[in-house]
Amino acid sequence: MSIESRADTIDMSGQAPYERCGICHEYDGNTRMDGFPRLAGQTRAYLQKQLGDFRSGKRRGNMQSVAELLSDAEIEAVADYFSAQGPTLPPIRQPVDTRLGEQIFFQGKQQPRVPACAACHGERGKGLSETPRLANQLPSYLLKQLQDFKTGQRDNDVVGVMRYIARSLSEVEINSLAGFLAGIPVDTKH
Ligand code: HEC
Ligand code: HEC
Repeated sequence: MSIESRADTIDMSGQAPYERCGICHEYDGNTRMDGFPRLAGQTRAYLQKQLGDFRSGKRRGNMQSVAELLSDAEIEAVADYFSAQGPTLPPIRQPVDTRLGEQIFFQGKQQPRVPACAACHGERGKGLSETPRLANQLPSYLLKQLQDFKTGQRDNDVVGVMRYIARSLSEVEINSLAGFLAGIPVDTKH
């Protein structure tokens, strides 16, 4: 086939499945684009669950059309790839007071009662199994997810745990939490 006749086709045959993700998530999973999640260092089991949820329509949004094209083996491959990437500190565009967020993260709060985020997401926010890593995530993405859980726009959390928690947090608390989580010092031994 001549070069000319191939010009209108995108040949993806030699591509690893994670190469299709880089345009939005960055090739090392450390995107700097607001609204997009960072995948670097995310837990393998959480990546698998989310991609399965997008594929089945349990979680809605632009990612559905991407996930629908992934086979089970490709989901395994991208989960392996991104969970093995090292996270970096995200750009901080709007500095916020993170003291309230830090307190809620480690101790939770009363009225309405919220358990410490660290109890599930880990003392360093690195996640465990299907509970996601939050450390070094972009603040804009964390804000959007907590708002989506609050309104029920996102409802793929098992037994509604994050919907309940997000409904119990004020906008000020959510902002402070997002700033705190983004800035957790990077642990290279992820
Ligand atoms: C066109 C842009 C785009 C492409 C390409 C793309 N994504 Fe996404 N992805 C998004 C957006 C936007 C979200 C956030 C959706 C939301 O706000 O709920 C997302 C969310 C995700 C999530 C959920 C992360 C979390 O923390 O919950 C995973 C996992 C994911 N994408 C994996 C992938 C993989 C793997 C690929 C490549 C096979 C890929 N994405 C390609 C835009 C994209
Ligand atoms: C009882 C355990 C538990 C507690 C406590 C908890 N979470 Fe979660 N969180 C989860 C689980 C499980 C998920 C994944 C839901 C899913 O499957 O989509 C999650 C998801 C999230 C997400 C979405 C992340 C992403 O990448 O899309 C954010 C943000 C979040 N939690 C923030 C918090 C904050 C902030 C607190 C404390 C105020 C908190 N969580 C407390 C279990 C918990």
